[in-house]
Amino acid sequence: MGQALGLAMACALLLGSSSPAWAWPTTAFLSRYWHRPLPIGGRSIPHWPAFEVTLSAGACGQCHIRQYREWRQSRHALAMGPGVVGQLMAAGRRRQAFVRGCLFCHAPARRQGREVRAALLGAALRPLAHQGVTCADCHVRAYRRFGPPLKPYLAAGSSVHGGFTPSGAFTRSRFCISCHQFHRNGARLHGALLENVYGEWRRSRYARVGVTCEACHMPNGRHNFYGIHNPRFVRKALTIRLHIESHSAKPELVAHLSITNSGVGHDFPTYTTPEVVATIWQDCAKHICPGTARRLVIGRRISLDLERQYFDTRLKPGQARQLSYDVPRAAHATALEAHIMVSPDAAYIHFFRAYLVRYRLTPNERVTIKRALARDEGSRYVLWQTKRPLNLPMPNRPFGLQ
Ligand code: HEC
Ligand code: HEC
Ligand code: HEC
Ligand code: HEC
Ligand code: HEC
Repeated sequence: MGQALGLAMACALLLGSSSPAWAWPTTAFLSRYWHRPLPIGGRSIPHWPAFEVTLSAGACGQCHIRQYREWRQSRHALAMGPGVVGQLMAAGRRRQAFVRGCLFCHAPARRQGREVRAALLGAALRPLAHQGVTCADCHVRAYRRFGPPLKPYLAAGSSVHGGFTPSGAFTRSRFCISCHQFHRNGARLHGALLENVYGEWRRSRYARVGVTCEACHMPNGRHNFYGIHNPRFVRKALTIRLHIESHSAKPELVAHLSITNSGVGHDFPTYTTPEVVATIWQDCAKHICPGTARRLVIGRRISLDLERQYFDTRLKPGQARQLSYDVPRAAHATALEAHIMVSPDAAYIHFFRAYLVRYRLTPNERVTIKRALARDEGSRYVLWQTKRPLNLPMPNRPFGLQ
């Protein structure tokens, strides 16, 4: 069980496939471009100045300042955080296939793999591996730069790093799928692939009108890659309404909170890891009046061993869900309150807690996993909240009795 837990849930998104046979609909260019491990450098080093040969993000950032600043704050730059590194230390030392499986998405270049293997033998983790999904993973093969065909006149023959090779693939959704979509034969529960963001997008109106992953996650070429961890980004994509029915004659408080996925290009949320919880309650002197809270959970919850699905209440593009509230008014209630909390890493919190209990870890491994747990617990935020004062109850109404 312990081992199964480690292998299956190490990343809720991996799912047992240590040698993934990727065969989604993709172009010949893309399947070659994303063949692992990625050869970003190589033996025949071009005769360029050192700062053009260096493949670390910082080196690119000397010229591509804006992309560097944005990427550095993004989740892609955090892809080799303590949650991944801690597990590689604990489980990867003698398990090459396990390491290869994780690096496929978290640090996919051959050079990064070498650095990680050296680190597992005791060296410090070197910078390129530490950078996670770095510039070169998406843009460089054998030192050659590839990019979107935005400014074709600058492409081949430019003086800097030998120009670049423009490819329309950079503006298509398929560019992102080798890390964000399972193969159609991948693990499923209740018929739905455990990682299916491209499939969800394909069936949405966004695909029909050509709104790609990049259009939403890289607007105007920005490299922030905002997602579920960014409250403002998420808020803009949802329509949230609270309607309170005011029948002052009734002893119940009746309200409806509706949440509509009005701007997410796939299920909200797409993965099994986040949890979104809407709550309505009555306020009694800054506390929840006992028995008055009602909740609605939006997400897809599965067991840690990925064998069972408990529920799937995610919102498809355009879909709405309601939390209907119909609860007797508490004696001292002064307000009706509601909020929506988002825990982007909820499944990892459960996983790391179990991990700390079930595995024998060295002190170093334990510290690293604890850091990952603290980070994931700290990523919870309030997406939306409101407080509606209630009129003072009439003294002789049944619910106003003291
Ligand atoms: C010495 C400055 C310099 C360095 C260092 C540098 N670049 Fe460039 N890069 C340029 C210039 C100049 C262009 C062409 C003008 C443009 O499109 O911005 C360019 C073009 C590009 C393009 C194509 C842009 C497009 O419109 O499609 C990509 C992609 C790119 N570089 C990636 C990288 C990456 C990745 C690194 C680091 C591994 C890097 N560059 C390092 C100066 C630099
Ligand atoms: C198919 C691509 C893929 C593979 C393979 C993969 N991951 Fe992930 N992983 C992701 C993506 C995408 C996310 C982001 C999920 C999110 O933000 O909701 C992620 C998130 C994580 C996180 C949570 C974020 C963090 O940095 O703490 C951990 C931990 C993690 N993966 C560990 C692993 C480990 C360990 C392996 C190898 C057993 C692995 N992953 C294999 C794609 C992958
Ligand atoms: C996860 C993949 C990914 C990573 C990581 C990434 N890029 Fe990009 N980059 C893209 C895609 C896709 C585009 C095209 C976006 C579009 O215009 O639709 C792009 C566009 C660009 C361009 C073209 C100019 C522009 O304004 O759009 C440059 C230059 C560039 N990236 C540099 C970098 C640098 C430097 C880094 C690291 C600091 C980096 N990229 C990291 C995927 C990536
Ligand atoms: C080489 C693999 C790889 C590629 C290619 C890739 N990603 Fe990611 N992406 C990841 C990993 C790994 C994470 C999770 C990092 C973490 O949280 O530790 C991630 C996280 C994200 C997130 C999550 C943000 C959040 O708040 O949880 C978004 C959004 C995202 N990627 C969008 C894209 C888009 C758009 C593209 C295509 C332009 C793309 N990615 C290409 C590996 C990749
Ligand atoms: C119409 C805009 C839009 C499109 C198109 C879109 N996304 Fe998103 N995406 C969002 C928004 C908004 C969020 C934040 C809410 C959420 O997490 O569902 C998000 C969240 C994410 C996340 C965070 C993890 C999670 O569980 O939600 C990832 C990863 C991601 N998108 C990847 C992609 C990829 C890959 C594509 C293309 C196949 C894509 N997105 C297409 C708007 C979009």
